[in-house]
Amino acid sequence: MVTRGKKGVVSFSLVYAHLVSALVFLGIVLLAGLLYSLQFLGKYPFPGVEFLSPGRVRMLHTNGAVYGFITNGYVAGLYWAVPRLTGYKVLNEKYLGWFMFWALQAAVLATAVGLLGGYAQAIEWGETPIFVDPFVLVYLLLALFQFTVPIYQYGKERPLYASSWYIISGLIWIPMVYIMGNYIPQFFIPGVAGAAITGTWIHDAVGLYVTPLGWGLMYFFVPVILKKPIWSHGLSLLGFWGLAFFYPMQGVHHYLWSPIPMYAQYAAVFSTLVLELAVVTVIINFFMTMRGNGDALKKSVPLRWMMIGIVNYGITCLQCSIQVLLTTQKAIHFTDWVVGHAHLIMFGTFGFWILGILSYLWPKVTGRRLYSSSLDEWAFWLIMIGMETMWVDLLAGGLVQGFTWWGLNPWMDSVRFSAPLWFVRTVTGIMIFVGFILYLYNFYMTAKKENIPSAQPQEA
Ligand code: HEM
Repeated sequence: MVTRGKKGVVSFSLVYAHLVSALVFLGIVLLAGLLYSLQFLGKYPFPGVEFLSPGRVRMLHTNGAVYGFITNGYVAGLYWAVPRLTGYKVLNEKYLGWFMFWALQAAVLATAVGLLGGYAQAIEWGETPIFVDPFVLVYLLLALFQFTVPIYQYGKERPLYASSWYIISGLIWIPMVYIMGNYIPQFFIPGVAGAAITGTWIHDAVGLYVTPLGWGLMYFFVPVILKKPIWSHGLSLLGFWGLAFFYPMQGVHHYLWSPIPMYAQYAAVFSTLVLELAVVTVIINFFMTMRGNGDALKKSVPLRWMMIGIVNYGITCLQCSIQVLLTTQKAIHFTDWVVGHAHLIMFGTFGFWILGILSYLWPKVTGRRLYSSSLDEWAFWLIMIGMETMWVDLLAGGLVQGFTWWGLNPWMDSVRFSAPLWFVRTVTGIMIFVGFILYLYNFYMTAKKENIPSAQPQEA
């Protein structure tokens, strides 16, 4: 399953393998999230089973989301996008590509087993067991070479697309911040200074890895689906440099009102607010690209996933500029507000982009026409409404909890008041899960041999 372009080669089998893994891990992530949500309802089905204790299942949920679902989804997108952006094949598909594929799955599975077995590293978002970290680093370095070599070859001939800027940077930044977050606080700089570095790592994992690769893919897929160029190249570079400059300084905003020196906290608040300006330029750019193409949103579900993800990104960033204020923090710190925010960005934005990429690529890599567009629509609406409702529900929960604590009421009051909202979270989780099953079934039926072959040539 390899298709040749002008000078490039896209390995359909590698794209397909990563898409399948992304789907499998999304299934595990959703199940783990649902399971853990039952703990809040006092109905956890495995009380006393250490291997499946709720705290460990929570880490399976969050780490599975980033390393299993999002990374596989992104890598599938990169295997498709990079050769098309550059006209050159990636460094090596046959050996390196397949070695990297199995190495990634092995690292995620080792992380899952390690976390459930009680070997988590005590660093937020760095829970990956310490014995898995070196392998993750090797993987990240291999990925850097695999995808940046063709971009470098193209760059010698012509200026790069905005997409390539984001992809190169994301791939360079992630090994650097991974070392910083996983090793420095644990082995070199403990205490408050270490917490400042951990905060930076938490934010950089999202801002210097998941975000730039996600935008890099959106700058490729949205114009390709719309069959028109991005509205403004200049604006896309402004957004890129805004992210590169202001994102790394924000990390301490995860620990506002903590013993970390106030000057570091103020700097984090300031750079968070300034970054919102860069975000606005990116969102304007995509909406101006969309202008006059509203119909495409009705026809193309992949585009809809991507654009709703962009809207959710805008909302999350707007929310961020409110919640980063020290006054707002007094109410929402340590509450479900933050969990709502995390879901809107990790699933409502990056996850939705991957669902869009998956829907767009699946018929192409399987060479089959989509089995059912009504199943596709059902899956979209169930997951989308489920996600947005979960977000509103958790924001409400956060306010209820924050103001109950602020009013110095007994702790148990906040638990009692939150119970109906936690129930709604589980219901919205079930909605998302049902949508996911429909999505999966549709893809399974699409890939079946008996299904109608795609009318489109595989190489667009
Ligand atoms: C069935 C759908 C889902 C349910 C029911 C669910 C439930 C949960 C629960 C109960 C928590 C722990 C909250 C806490 O400790 O207070 C959590 C955390 C989290 N989930 Fe999910 N989740 C779902 C889907 C997802 C997906 C698809 C993603 C990402 C792609 C995701 C990303 C996260 C993240 C990043 C956190 C950590 C939040 C934080 O620490 O602030 N979740 N989720």
